[in-house]
Amino acid sequence: MKRIALLGATGSIGRQAIEVIDANPELELVAATSGSQQIEGLARLTQVGGDPTALLERAAPDIVLNAVVGFAGLVPTMWALERGVTLALANKESLVAAGELALAARRRGGGALLPVDSEHSALYQCALLGEPESMVLTASGGPFRGRSAVELEAVTPAQALVHPTWSMGPKITIDSATLANKGLELIEAHFLFGLAYERIEVVIHPSSIVHGLVRFADGAAIAHLGNPDMRVPISYALNFPERAATPVPPLTLRTLEFFEPDLETFTLLALAREAGERGGTYPCAFNAANEEAVGAFLAGRIGFLDIAGTVAEVLARVDGAAARDLDELVEADRQARELVVVAGA
Ligand SMILES: NC(=O)c1ccc[n+]([C@@H]2O[C@H](COP(=O)([O-])OP(=O)(O)OC[C@H]3O[C@@H](n4cnc5c(N)ncnc54)[C@H](OP(=O)(O)O)[C@@H]3O)[C@@H](O)[C@H]2O)c1
Repeated sequence: MKRIALLGATGSIGRQAIEVIDANPELELVAATSGSQQIEGLARLTQVGGDPTALLERAAPDIVLNAVVGFAGLVPTMWALERGVTLALANKESLVAAGELALAARRRGGGALLPVDSEHSALYQCALLGEPESMVLTASGGPFRGRSAVELEAVTPAQALVHPTWSMGPKITIDSATLANKGLELIEAHFLFGLAYERIEVVIHPSSIVHGLVRFADGAAIAHLGNPDMRVPISYALNFPERAATPVPPLTLRTLEFFEPDLETFTLLALAREAGERGGTYPCAFNAANEEAVGAFLAGRIGFLDIAGTVAEVLARVDGAAARDLDELVEADRQARELVVVAGA
């Protein structure tokens, strides 16, 4: 029996996680949190908003499934890594922002870090077969694949919230439309697999069937395929190292297409790579500025292309110095957000 604490239980990942847990008698939901929605009765211990540390201490889970959206996921990520409690991580933002600090906490805690992001779950499974030489992260390309910057100027939140292959929460759906999501995933992969950025390639693959590919020194390349359904990587992380049945239909092979990403139109992917390569708190600033800009876009305060413009402006202004501890990291996040206000978003 595995005891699970689910942070972000009311979200897209959270609800699918509950489905996976309910379908498996080996998994027990012992604690659940949300940001603001009521969740009383969902688990023995529940909490709405606030710091989840005391709840996690009381719940003493075997697995923390972090499905919070945004930088707010930092606390449960660090709690689990520091204590060596298995962390099933959907909240990519915390790993992107905390980077080295998160990895240091994981080394101290000694627990497992299992990615829930479908691409990283795929890469993780491929990487179990050998030492990766390089990796390919696939991206659907979002709803605006093939459009030029001029064609994107008047895009509305409603148009950007329609994703061609995945049904997800609003923030990640906008991130998929701008390709910021793939930028966050690039940085996430760098930290998860310890690979230099030049060894991680991004390829557009509209049908989202191939989730990731790892190349090995002997010339072999192993890819992970599956229908796009988050219950698969959620189930993998919660049942690891076993596999449990999910109600996802078996994959039928068809023609698979791959394209180069258009970095001139979708500049957030290039900006994320640059922020990752510069290191320090640049990834934290990228994430903070993007989070604020996406919020401003969804609220109708800025246009679609202004998201990338805002992030570029913030990255040009921060000093990016490495954070020595969590307080410095939280301060770097705050400063980047403040610059977004200065930038007029
Ligand atoms: N959705 C996907 O298919 C998918 C795929 C891969 C990775 N991910 C990643 O998984 C994470 C969750 O995504 P999602 O699509 O499930 O998001 P979502 O549908 O927006 O759900 C977010 C969850 O986080 C909670 N939350 C929001 N702000 C919070 C705060 N300040 N403190 C505590 N909890 C807070 C929300 O609670 P309320 O409902 O009460 O606001 C909700 O339960 C993101 O990092 C995303 O990038 C998602």
